[in-house]
This record gives sequence, structure tokens and C-alpha cells, in this order.
Amino acid sequence: MLNGKRILLIVSGGIAAVKVPDLIRRLRERGASVRCVLTKGGAQFVTPLTLAALSGQKIYQDLFSLTDEAEMGHIQLSRDADILLVAPATADIMAKMSAGIADDLATTALLATDKPVMIAPSMNVMMWTHPATQANLETLKSRAVEVIGPGAGDLACGEVGDGRLAEVKDIIAALSRFFQRQTSEGALARMRVLVTSGPTHEPIDPVRYISNRSSGKQGHAIAAALADLGAQVTLIAGPTTEPDPDGVKVVRVETAAQMLKATREGLPCDIAVCAAAVADWHVADASKTKIKKGGTPPRINLAPNPDILATLAQPGPQRPGLVIGFAAETGDVIEKAKLKRAAKDCDWIIANDVSPGSGTFGGDNNTVHVISAANVESWPTMKKREVAEKLAAAIAAHAAKFL
Ligand code: C5P
Repeated sequence: MLNGKRILLIVSGGIAAVKVPDLIRRLRERGASVRCVLTKGGAQFVTPLTLAALSGQKIYQDLFSLTDEAEMGHIQLSRDADILLVAPATADIMAKMSAGIADDLATTALLATDKPVMIAPSMNVMMWTHPATQANLETLKSRAVEVIGPGAGDLACGEVGDGRLAEVKDIIAALSRFFQRQTSEGALARMRVLVTSGPTHEPIDPVRYISNRSSGKQGHAIAAALADLGAQVTLIAGPTTEPDPDGVKVVRVETAAQMLKATREGLPCDIAVCAAAVADWHVADASKTKIKKGGTPPRINLAPNPDILATLAQPGPQRPGLVIGFAAETGDVIEKAKLKRAAKDCDWIIANDVSPGSGTFGGDNNTVHVISAANVESWPTMKKREVAEKLAAAIAAHAAKFL
């Protein structure tokens, strides 16, 4: 969503300005170009040289710089962007924005712009909760300034509460959602989606467990792709090393029983995608203490796990309008998957070949067949991210007609 987007990043003077280099790096990784305006205060926390090196562009600081004005006037600077992002936004810059004060380059650009503005506030908790700041916030919101965060937690000043700059990933997610809304008006806007991903761990004792092979890559990519289309996604993730996708609510679980509980708590929803490799059994008599080795190896007594997909797909008032499962098979993939779809009563099943040598497990590629009651569509081998994007687009097309 951020590829090719031009962001005018206004860095005002708060300690959180130290997070700006990481923000610039992540934005550029996603193909955005970043031009920075640094206030006097901002330059106390991060150097122009750092920002120039990371953004690959000149840094603008002075309203009355002859060279800057000759190269790019402050009006053009404020218009030559797709969005203006103030991060961190101090109480001071919010007050100036609210009052229409333009006494430096940053505030002048903000007053002269005809582009959307987002702010990521960061300040001491008392400054944030002060009625003056809250009134300014309301004024800015009423002028369609989008506000990201702030988060709660330990503040640099030693106090605790609201006022932390939003996480870099959340700022990026907010920008992605903004551009998504602009381009497709969010094909899945207002849709509630549940995605399960990763394996489950079923304890044998506090140290050992049984599990299925699963990296969580495909399920996490699907959650991210659906969020990019504007859906409200809850990702119920078993133990994986995959990072939390941007703009997605993540509920971490360990066992199948916990995954089922979290899934039930996520209802009602419009769409469910079960991509998790849920263990088929759990240990019926799991030990509360570590089983000592030596002597006869213990017998493991297995009991079946609940089938989350089949539970979700059961007819009833809570059944999501579209329920999608996965079928990881070796050999006769399509035939086995068709039977699985019918047995579990889901609407679509995504079949993939996980035979040794297919490279599906843990790899970046996947070859899938999308199977519904009426149709089988075989997709070429693609990156898991591309499979996720194509699946999200197919879900959006279906949702537009039927949900
Ligand atoms: O039966 P099998 O495990 O092959 O089915 C795979 C599909 O069912 C996947 O979508 C998986 O997420 C889902 N499943 C589940 N709960 C289970 C077992 C599988 O949701 N206990």
C-alpha cells in the first residue's frame, strides 16, 4: 500500500524523535519516499544528518533559508506529498496546529497544505491529559486530522500513563489503511474476520509437547492481506516466530483448546479463515511435573482435539458467512481436499501439496487449489504473500456479492 507514496514527515521536539530513524527505514522498505522537516526541538533529539542518510533526501529546517526556498518553497514542500505525518507530535505543535500559528517551517507547511494530515502524539501524561491538549486534539480531529496513538506505558520522563509514541508498526499500519481507503475504499471495510495460524502445542508435561509442522507464514500473510483491504482482523496465533502483522489484533494461544476458546470469543464474524495446523490430539493425562527419564519410557495417552474449522462451519446463527479451511495433503491433493471440504462443511478449502520436496513447510512459496462446492481453481506456484493477496482479493470479490 505504501509503494510509491510520498510522505512529508514532520519531526517535532520530543524524546520519541529517536524512533524516527526506524520509522523512515520501515517506510522506505515498503517503497515510500520520505522527505523530512525537522523542527528546532526535533533537532535536539535526532540529527539532520541521520535523517538525511536514512531518507536519502535533503532535510528541511529553516523557513527563511534562501537556498531551500529557491530549491523548493515551503508551499510546494507542503503540497508535494501524498500525506503529512507529524511524528512525534508534541503538545506544542498540536497547539500551534489547532490555533493556526505558523512561526517556523513545520507549522507553516502544516497551515499551507492541501493534503491529509496525520499526527502521532508523544508527550508526558499530564501534558497529554491537560484540558488544553485535549481541546486541541478535538479541534484537530474535527478538521479530519487523523490521530495515531499515543500508547500507554512507561514514559521517558519516568512517569507512567498515556503519552508514548505509537509503535512504528502501528504508524505504518495507519498509513497503509489510509492509502487503502483512498484507493479501493477498503473492499473489506467493516468486515470482521477471524484467522487462525501456526501450530498448536499440546503439552506432555511442562517441558515437552506434541505439535504439527507449521511456520505460520501463510496464515499470518493472509491476516495481513485481509487487513490491507480494510477488514477488522483478529489473528488467533499458535506458537510461531512470525512477527505480528500490521493493523491486526493478535491473540496468542498455545493449545487447540485455547485456540477454540479464542475463536468462539471472536464471534460473531463475517469471514473465518482456518489456516492453523491444529494438532489432532492432546495428551489426555498431561503431567503437571516434568516426567523423569530412565526406566520404561512413559506411555502417552492421546485424546482427540476439537475441530475448530468444523465447529465454526456448523450451521447456526453464529456461523460466519464465509468459512475457509486448508487441506495440507500428500498425493491426490484435490480429491482428498474435496472430501475434507464436504466433511467439515466449510465453503472453500485451500488445498496444498506438502509432500517432502514441495518446499511448502517453512518455505516462502506455495502451490494451492481453491476448492468450493462448485469449482476447483488451481493457482500457479507463488510466494505465500502473493497467495495471501490473491486469496484476500477473491474473498473481497465474494463478499461484495454475497456478504
Ligand atoms: O483435518 P485436517 O487437520 O487435515 O483439516 C485441516 C483444516 O482444518 C485446516 O483448515 C485446519 O486449520 C482445520 N483444523 C481445525 N481444527 C482441528 C484440525 C484442523 O480447525 N482440530
